[in-house]
Amino acid sequence: CDKIAPMINEINRLKKETNTVILAHSYVNPEIVYGVSDYTGDSYQLSRNALESGADNILFVAVKFMAETAKILNPEKNVYVPAALNGCSLADSITGANVRKLKQDNPDYTFVCYINTTADVKAQCDVCVTSGNVYNIIEDLPTDKIFFVPDKLMGLNIIDEMKRRGVEKDIKLWDGVCYVHEEYDPDMIDYIRGEFDGVKVLAHPECSPGVLHHSDFVGSTAQLLKFMETSAADDFLMLTECGLSARLQVEMPEKNFVGSCSVCKYMKANTLENVLECLKNPKAHNEIHLTQEDIDGSRRCIDAMFHYAE
Ligand code: 13P
Ligand code: SF4
Repeated sequence: CDKIAPMINEINRLKKETNTVILAHSYVNPEIVYGVSDYTGDSYQLSRNALESGADNILFVAVKFMAETAKILNPEKNVYVPAALNGCSLADSITGANVRKLKQDNPDYTFVCYINTTADVKAQCDVCVTSGNVYNIIEDLPTDKIFFVPDKLMGLNIIDEMKRRGVEKDIKLWDGVCYVHEEYDPDMIDYIRGEFDGVKVLAHPECSPGVLHHSDFVGSTAQLLKFMETSAADDFLMLTECGLSARLQVEMPEKNFVGSCSVCKYMKANTLENVLECLKNPKAHNEIHLTQEDIDGSRRCIDAMFHYAE
């Protein structure tokens, strides 16, 4: 604790001195969210913040694919990610070469990628989506043949949601999963409902269809937060990474978070120490470098998302 305040002060001083903006995902440690970040949010909000930021440097405290998105939107800026362990089980499950092969085998399909993908995957796809806009964009796409990569569980949820909306789509899937959200199971929800009368169960769309069927509300991290702000319930079970409940417990101390949650080792690999080190002396693994081809291709894919989302 004695070390935290001086580190926060030093980071904030260096941030101004180097004209750096700090973006942090809601899953990272609270001392980063509350001590040093300029913006905290979900993947969609943070990609908008990256686009609108006037700073010369962007320090993206999250995982590598999110920092890559900031670089794609700001190729002239220096973009850094503090942790060396900066993967994601979804983004790491598929490569651009995999998508090229899928496209050869499925020439009639429109390729939709979740934002949790690397730039070389986005460069091969037609449109990108986030957890907050996935259902609406898939519904609005003027095609009925869709290949969705890489999240199989989210893909199964899309198929369910299209059926619920009465929308006919032929949807093929890749078989990636988020190892954090895959952990949750419907039996745990039933148990918690038995223990806490009136509990509201909120789930991220990376959870399995069984979990979503047993939940009261499904949304991105930002949408879950919004739901809580307007809910009259006292008890909540949050089926997403632990960081979101930790953040909401600080912001809504009157609410009660019940049950357990899973940790993302990649998000939690970001610390005040490596944020400070990255500002002072960035190493090769910190800086995001992309080829012009990947920047151009993935920008087209992300712009298609902005087009459908706005
Ligand atoms: P959000 O877009 O909801 O912030 O989700 C990102 C993510 O990695 C979820 O695991
Ligand atoms: Fe990737 Fe899952 Fe971690 Fe999100 S929580 S960054 S999807 S591994």
